[in-house]
Order: sequence, then C-alpha cells, then structure tokens
Amino acid sequence: MISGLNRLLLTALIVVLAILALVRVDHSRPNFQIILGNDMTYSPAYGAYAANANFANGRTIQEPVVGTLARGEQRFNFQATPEDAVRAGERLTSPYSKSAEEQNAAADRGAIVFQKFCTSCHGGDGTGNGPVAQRGFPPPPSLLTGKSREMKDGQLFHILTRGQNNIMPMFDVQLPPSRRWDVVAYIRRLQQSAPPAAPTTAAPAAPPATASAPAAEPKGAAGEKPKNEPAGEPKK
Ligand code: HEC
Repeated sequence: MISGLNRLLLTALIVVLAILALVRVDHSRPNFQIILGNDMTYSPAYGAYAANANFANGRTIQEPVVGTLARGEQRFNFQATPEDAVRAGERLTSPYSKSAEEQNAAADRGAIVFQKFCTSCHGGDGTGNGPVAQRGFPPPPSLLTGKSREMKDGQLFHILTRGQNNIMPMFDVQLPPSRRWDVVAYIRRLQQSAPPAAPTTAAPAAPPATASAPAAEPKGAAGEKPKNEPAGEPKK
C-alpha cells in the first residue's frame, strides 16, 4: 500500500519534472492568451498627423491650450514698446549669478552669438560700424558708450527679444532666452573693457580737462544723436 503510494508519487514527480524540462520559455513570443472579444486588447493608436473623426477639426494632433508653457519655458509678458523695455529692466534679471566664473562663461558663449548675429550691424567691437551699417543701413548707436551702458540687464534682454524702434531686429525666435542672456553678459564685458577715452577721437572739440568718466558721457550722448537721426528723418 505505502510502497504503492510512494511509487505513484515518484511517478508523478518524474512526470512533472519531465514536463518542466520540456517546457521552455521563449521570451521572443507572446504567452498564450485567451481573447474573449476584442476589448482593450488592441488599442487603435492614431498617428500624430493622421485624420481623426473623433475631433471636430478632424485632426489627431491638437493645438496646445492657449497659455501653455513648455517645461522650463518662461513667460515674457512685455510688448515691443519703450515703456515695456524699461519695465522689463525693472523686473527681469539675468539667471546667472554675479560670480566672475559664471559671468565669464556666459560672456564667452555670448561672444560667439554676438559674432554671428550682431556684428553685421553693430560691428565686431560694438561701436556700430558693421558692414551693413557701412552700406546704408541706419547705423546703430555704440553699445559701449551709448544708452545701453546705462540700461539694466533686463532692458537689454527686452531689446534682444522684441527689437527696438522697428530697426533693431527681434531675436526671440533665433535665440533662446539663455543665449540672449549670454549676449547681455558679453555686452557688459565689451562695455567694461571699452577704453573710456576711445570716443574722444570722434569729437576733437572736447575740453581737455574732462579726461575720463565725465568726458565719456557727453560724447556718448553726442554720438547717439547723429546715429538716431537717419533712423527718424529720411534726409538722404
Ligand atoms: C540689422 C542690423 C542689426 C542687427 C543684426 C542687430 N542690431 Fe542691434 N540695433 C540695430 C539698430 C539700427 C539699433 C538702433 C535702433 C534704434 O534706433 O532705436 C540697434 C539697437 C540695439 C541696442 C540698443 C542700443 C541703444 O543705445 O538704444 C542694443 C542693446 C542692441 N541693438 C543689441 C544688439 C545685439 C546684442 C544684437 C545681436 C544679437 C543686435 N543688436 C543685432 C541694428 C541691428
């Protein structure tokens, strides 16, 4: 009796082991599945650009909701007006810290952007004598001695984003915000390294007593006027 049961159990064990040995898992093939109806087994995925009768406009891909921001994207709530440029100067600050390392790295990157996008008009040194300006385009004011020296970073950023007076182009599409802040850092470097005496050569009538800082200001202001004139009055 007992040995008969043992024999039975032994046989059962051998059979089970034999079956296990025969069954091999093939991960490349799906498991057995029993499908009763088709519910949720296969989802009818639409291609992004495929026609789609489920939406009123017949498209699969839909416009983002108005006001949607991409992750990490910042709102720029400033219009292309001088008032908003000033407002941007008060509200926006560079995302980079004041540390020399970070500013230097930003200015280094900004130098490349400036070289590619700005020198054609503003000139390699930022004085406004780029090849485009030399061939009749209204020459931009110097970035070294002009108003931009007094502008806050945020205002420079605004000008880069929205342009200025319909002459200075806007770069909101060409340059992402980080690149625009890089250029701002580079403009600051240009201004810092600009010799204060440089513009005096343009105005020989300057009183010799005012050597450095006071001399730079009137000259900057004087230098702006003739440059702004061709923009406003079509004399030639
Ligand atoms: C197509 C020529 C052109 C290009 C390219 C250009 N600018 Fe200008 N920019 C101008 C002109 C012209 C003005 C003067 C606009 C005005 O009269 O208000 C100006 C004005 C500015 C001002 C304000 C200066 C001030 O004193 O009012 C800044 C700052 C400036 N540009 C920076 C840049 C930077 C940085 C780039 C490159 C990313 C650039 N610009 C590219 C033509 C250009």
